Amino acid sequence: MDLIPAPATHAEDPSRAPFVLGTGTTLAAAPGTEGVARWLRATVGPALGRDLPPGPAGADGSVTLRVDPSLPPEGYRLTVAAAVEILGGSAAGVFWGAQTFRQLLGPAAYRRACADPGVSRAVPRQVVEDAPRFGWRGVLLDVARHFAPKDDVLRFLDLLAAHKLNVLHLHLTDDQGWRVEIRRHPRLTEAGSWRARTKRGHRASELWDETPHGGHYTQDDIREIVAYAAERHIRVVPEIDVPGHSQAAIAAYPELGNTDVIGTAALPVWDTWGVNPNVLAPTETTLRFYEGVLEEVLDLFPAATSPFVHLGGDECPTGQWTASPAARARAEELGLAGAHELQGWFIRHFGRWLAERGRRLIGWDEILDGGLPPGAAVSSWRGYAGGIAAAEAGHDVVMCPEQHVYLDHRQDPGADEPVPIGYVRTLEDVYRFEPVPPGLSPAAAARVIGTQANVWTEVMESRSRVDYQVFPRLAAFAEVAWSTRLPADPAARDFADFTRRMSTHYARLDALGVDYRPPGGPLPRQRRPGVVGRPIEGAPPNV
Ligand code: ACM
Repeated sequence: MDLIPAPATHAEDPSRAPFVLGTGTTLAAAPGTEGVARWLRATVGPALGRDLPPGPAGADGSVTLRVDPSLPPEGYRLTVAAAVEILGGSAAGVFWGAQTFRQLLGPAAYRRACADPGVSRAVPRQVVEDAPRFGWRGVLLDVARHFAPKDDVLRFLDLLAAHKLNVLHLHLTDDQGWRVEIRRHPRLTEAGSWRARTKRGHRASELWDETPHGGHYTQDDIREIVAYAAERHIRVVPEIDVPGHSQAAIAAYPELGNTDVIGTAALPVWDTWGVNPNVLAPTETTLRFYEGVLEEVLDLFPAATSPFVHLGGDECPTGQWTASPAARARAEELGLAGAHELQGWFIRHFGRWLAERGRRLIGWDEILDGGLPPGAAVSSWRGYAGGIAAAEAGHDVVMCPEQHVYLDHRQDPGADEPVPIGYVRTLEDVYRFEPVPPGLSPAAAARVIGTQANVWTEVMESRSRVDYQVFPRLAAFAEVAWSTRLPADPAARDFADFTRRMSTHYARLDALGVDYRPPGGPLPRQRRPGVVGRPIEGAPPNV
């Protein structure tokens, strides 16, 4: 039935009558599965014009949801016979099984209302047994470079859930905008969430969008996003990027910057792209400020669903620190070998601070440079090397190398590709991405807790542009992250079979209203002629 991601095992029995989701179909939710029942009634119900009222478990024509602790926590067994039964090792497993059931019901099950009363609601008899390869199946959404209104984030969560992805890494702060309300520091959003204008295209472009850009999530918006994600068994990882990528915060509170080397009072929220020299000053004021920020962040993102807090740590130029007498004196007082070690000191400080509060630090692989705090995890983005080093040192790793799974990178070498950035990474390239590099020791391989696709939005100014970059490649990524059936050897993967299943999946994406890149290339309105990108020609992956 063209399932994506491919399940572990799947056996059909076409010899007997299919199950039909009829007007009399009832839904029985055993204890612990009430949320999944709510989701099924709210999505599949209206799409197929069926109310799915409560009824007895196991009755002919019914759907039954139940937790079976003998299954793996996120695993499920879906049986379609005279009745449907979805067993999961936990509510999450039942939910992933329900997602599979929705795929089996056909693309119409992805609409918001029933477009055709005569649509087929038949599902062939079959048994699907399944469980994920990785526990961290993530996507980063950069809401700092371009703000995604709350409703777009909720929709994005639905799209992740439809692909059995279970981590949303929200990049909430950067030079170009601060996106989360912090009550004790209101200027972070009053001033730090707005920029006067925006570079269109790569920073080398001459073009500007002169419309002020901004927006932020209130604390209730964040609580809603976290709760909506939790109902879909998705964890949200907040990222507050320090000590680089901080110009928006410095624009709001100039005392956070290196005031003895630059007039921070005149710094605006940044309006262009790249690695920014304006980093946080290594003062007690800065530490207390960010502890205050993080106290509110921990309150907004509860430990149960957000055990990890991402503190960035990437791309932090040390030039201002080495030029700053105050920063140099601070480094000396801290016993560091020089001001260049202040990045590691920042990260270690907040790693301890988080650990004291029962949370775990995760950061970009640059945090390896300063020595990883105990229990810290690494997002390996500059290639596999950081992840390999961290895993061999006994740290958890999420593999998200930019050479493979940065979805801002162009997906075709053609001239029509909108604002082409980086490497060409086609649907097939993503399908052949392997998160666990060969040669890792078995102990280190077990430290690769998952993988993540990263969606940086410098050149994605709208939801449609995000859709275009993310889909269809996220479907291939989802199969990489989930499917235990995919050979570890990328060359051995059956891309032709995936392509065949994609023809059904495109119909699901159409029903969902996803503005994906069509297989034949961008539609005229999806092109951005004249907007300069930064294609990297023929660059080999630096693995
Ligand atoms: C990153 O792409 N700077 C993590």
